[in-house]
Amino acid sequence: MTRVGIIGAGHIGGNIARRMALAGHQVIVSFARDGAGLAALAADIGATVADPAGAATADVVVLSVPWGVIDQALAAAGPLDGRIVIDTTNQFGRGGAMDLGGRTAARVNTERMPGARYTKSFNTLTAGFQAATADRAEADRVVQWIAGDDAGAKTVVASLISGAGYVPVDLAGIDGCSVMEAPRRAGAVYGEEYRAAAAAAVVAAVRAGQPIPPAPVY
Ligand SMILES: NC(=O)c1ccc[n+]([C@@H]2O[C@H](COP(=O)([O-])OP(=O)(O)OC[C@H]3O[C@@H](n4cnc5c(N)ncnc54)[C@H](OP(=O)(O)O)[C@@H]3O)[C@@H](O)[C@H]2O)c1
Repeated sequence: MTRVGIIGAGHIGGNIARRMALAGHQVIVSFARDGAGLAALAADIGATVADPAGAATADVVVLSVPWGVIDQALAAAGPLDGRIVIDTTNQFGRGGAMDLGGRTAARVNTERMPGARYTKSFNTLTAGFQAATADRAEADRVVQWIAGDDAGAKTVVASLISGAGYVPVDLAGIDGCSVMEAPRRAGAVYGEEYRAAAAAAVVAAVRAGQPIPPAPVY
């Protein structure tokens, strides 16, 4: 049993909270303008409500807020030193996916939370699709890609992803994960369904600095 703290339990974070609770983890949800909605979710899934600083005391902290709210959420959470963080965010602004000047969104966010054991996952598939596919039989499960530079953190996150109903695949480090970042485009895994069998060739290509194979069609 892992303590999982969710900062932003909306479409993506709410599904993660639900799946983690179903898997038997202790879930803490936090950070909402609509406190009644957050309380209702918590009651529904057997989680507790806290403020972001409370959620940040968990073993694993999920950051799942709109891009423009990240600084506010992290300020409310306080220091995340030593915490395993799962960042689900994508760099969308008013004009769509933002150009971060050659840096990955994962790099930008790592620098906003110094000392955290940063990982990025749950960000490539729509919230509706993630919720709808989480109960699939083993052979048809969908991949949740993982990026990060902390191997131990990635192992913990992979185990949580498996328990939540998905296939964890360690794709890349923080600076090499642009294929799993927005926008959806040819040559990227962002926005595409993958299952286990198609993942290895993608990982091999990314690690070799080569273009990835075309996205599978199921
Ligand atoms: N939706 C998708 O399909 C999808 C897929 C992959 C990745 N992502 C990424 O995951 C992150 C979360 O997306 P989401 O769709 O789950 O967002 P969302 O449904 O809007 O959830 C955001 C959460 O943050 C809370 N929050 C607290 N203060 C807020 C504020 N000032 N402004 C906005 N929200 C506030 C919201 O609660 P209240 O509304 O009660 O304030 C809500 O629980 C984003 O970075 C997004 O790009 C989304």
